[in-house]
Order: sequence, then structure tokens, then C-alpha cells
Amino acid sequence: MIGLTAVLFNSHSIAFVPVEEAIQKRVEMFKTSKSNIKKLRQLIRSGDASKAVPLVDFHIKWSKEMPMLFPLGSEASTSNGSDASSDIWDNPVGFKNAINQYNLKSRELRKSLLSADSVLINQTFKSFAGTCKGCHKQFRN
Ligand code: HEC
Repeated sequence: MIGLTAVLFNSHSIAFVPVEEAIQKRVEMFKTSKSNIKKLRQLIRSGDASKAVPLVDFHIKWSKEMPMLFPLGSEASTSNGSDASSDIWDNPVGFKNAINQYNLKSRELRKSLLSADSVLINQTFKSFAGTCKGCHKQFRN
């Protein structure tokens, strides 16, 4: 997170995050996302909903920063190790919508965790996790 913050503070607009750095950073963020969601699932299963709130805060923050790490020219190529589909740039509205869904479902999950209603928590966790899969289906190779 510290590295990403540095990138964002050093750059005045999306265009100033260099392509290689953006790819490296976003892959790192997605990896963190994966281990985070595993921990989240465990905490929810064991009924530790309130402890899960800080983990959800990561997703709320990441969903806001994500667009900055997809600069033009950073789609998957044979040399850059990225799996980002060119559809991200061919269908920017669709990609933005997928990010908005991720943000929305993260915030709904946070709210439900605070409510401590286990049925609601399970529902919102499912739709939250669905936004990862939904975006990957459309925008990851
Ligand atoms: C709005 C779209 C979007 C959302 C939402 C999204 N992802 Fe991804 N994810 C991507 C894209 C695009 C890539 C490929 C990035 C690249 O390789 O440059 C990716 C890559 C990944 C990777 C592979 C990283 C690697 O090792 O190369 C993991 C793991 C991952 N995402 C997990 C998640 C999880 C978990 C969530 C939900 C909590 C999530 N993603 C939500 C678009 C998304």
C-alpha cells in the first residue's frame, strides 16, 4: 500500500503512472486482494464479522484506485506478463461499471458486517465475491 500511495502522490494524472509500474503494482494489489478475500471468508464463517471490517476497507480503497493503474498501453502483451484484456480499453464504460459494482458491493458488505446479521452477511459476501469473477470473465484473458 505504501508503494501505491507513493505512485499516486507522485502522479498528477492517470497518464503519469508508467505502464510497467502500473502493471507491477496492480498485480501486487490483486494478489493482496486474493489473500484478503480468503481471510474475509474465514472470519465470516467463524462468526467474527466485526474483525472483517478492516479487510473490507482494503477493497473499498482499492476499487477507487484501480482505474489509475490501467493506463493506456498496459494491456497484455507477450512481453509484459499482464493478463489484462484489451476489452478494458475497447469498452471503457463496461470496465468502469465493473469497478463501480466492486466498489458498491464492498460498501454493502461493510454495512452488513456492522449489522451482524449473518444471513445478510452471507448474501452480501456472495455478491461481493461475484464482482471479482464478473470482471475477470469480461476483462481478464
Ligand atoms: C473491475 C475488474 C476487476 C475486479 C473487480 C477484480 N479484478 Fe482481479 N483482475 C482484473 C484484471 C484486469 C486482472 C489482470 C491484471 C494484469 O495481469 O495486468 C486481474 C488479476 C487478478 C489476479 C491475478 C494476479 C496475478 O497473480 O497475476 C487475482 C489473484 C485477482 N485478480 C483477484 C481478484 C479478487 C480476489 C477480486 C475481488 C475481491 C478481484 N480480483 C476483482 C480485474 C478485476
